[in-house]
Amino acid sequence: MFKMFEVHTMKKKLAEVEAYLEQALDFEHPVIRQYALDTLHAGGKRVRPTLSILTAGILENEDNIVPLAAAMELIHMCSLIHDDIVDQADTRRGRPTIQAQQGNQFAVHIGDYILTKALEIIQQQPNSQRLLQIMGNLSLEMCLGEVEQLRTVFDVGQTVEDYNYRIDRKTALLMATSCQAAAVVSNASEKEIDIFYKIGYNLGMDFQIRDDILDMEQDSRKLGKPAGSDLAHGIMTLPTILVLQKDWAGKEELLGFIQNRFTGGQAEVERAISMIIEQGGLQEAAVYAEGYLKQAEVYIDQLPEHPMRKLFLDGVNYLRGRAY
Ligand code: IPE
Ligand code: IPE
Ligand code: MG
Ligand code: MG
Repeated sequence: MFKMFEVHTMKKKLAEVEAYLEQALDFEHPVIRQYALDTLHAGGKRVRPTLSILTAGILENEDNIVPLAAAMELIHMCSLIHDDIVDQADTRRGRPTIQAQQGNQFAVHIGDYILTKALEIIQQQPNSQRLLQIMGNLSLEMCLGEVEQLRTVFDVGQTVEDYNYRIDRKTALLMATSCQAAAVVSNASEKEIDIFYKIGYNLGMDFQIRDDILDMEQDSRKLGKPAGSDLAHGIMTLPTILVLQKDWAGKEELLGFIQNRFTGGQAEVERAISMIIEQGGLQEAAVYAEGYLKQAEVYIDQLPEHPMRKLFLDGVNYLRGRAY
């Protein structure tokens, strides 16, 4: 019974975030407004605002969390728009990307515009000086993650540590920040802020590993974005790195495909992905992902006793089973 109330609160807050985003993206400029609202309306899982709301809920501050939760989704939206330019992706959330419709130039500026809107909102929240410092660090680190990914394409000598460096920055930090900033806005103690950060961080590491597994496992329609594209673009994700660390009969062939940058085209990419799957790359990567989820659960257990905590654990289970 208790949990019913918490679920209701969660749904209500997410609906408020949606309404807030609708307003925030109702920009005066017609082109920016159209593409910003299109990206919003295309859907998305709203994982980052959910983390902010759960954090604030446990800290009994859900009444004041909506603008910050919305700002976290805006930062995420900007990162998707820019990521799709860099990755030359044609689809996102089941629709053509902005650059597929309007070209890179428009997409860069629309991403920047949305990011700046997020900062404007954050600047109006309690403890804004600290929040802006956190966001500055987030932005620097996310850029480093993406730049490092670009620098290391087709580099078959990468280790799990190299991979962790990239996904820590490009994905986990935003989720860590979604929890941490919500705790800062809620005037939590330093100890609590730190625990929330670690929860978000571990969920984020799991999230990107699973995203990388899904990229090899699922089809594009289900994902709403191009599947199989990481390896084709030379991005060495965890399943690939783990399989290349082992000795097995076809390894030289796989190395050759990657080092020659798939001169045989799409058929060769598909062959390479099948080899990685046959060698157990996806299952091995899933073990790492599960390790992060377990760690997140350990930290959730350290939070103050609160019915919302159960919802946080439900969220972990949702991530555990997600298929897109
Ligand atoms: C996609 O994030 C980018 C990654 C970090 C893998 P999401 O999978 O949360 O994207 P949406 O918001 O649901 O579209
Ligand atoms: C996600 O990287 C990180 C950011 C969006 C910053 P990916 O390139 O793996 O994300 P998808 O698969 O395009 O969503
Ligand atoms: Mg991408
Ligand atoms: Mg991906």
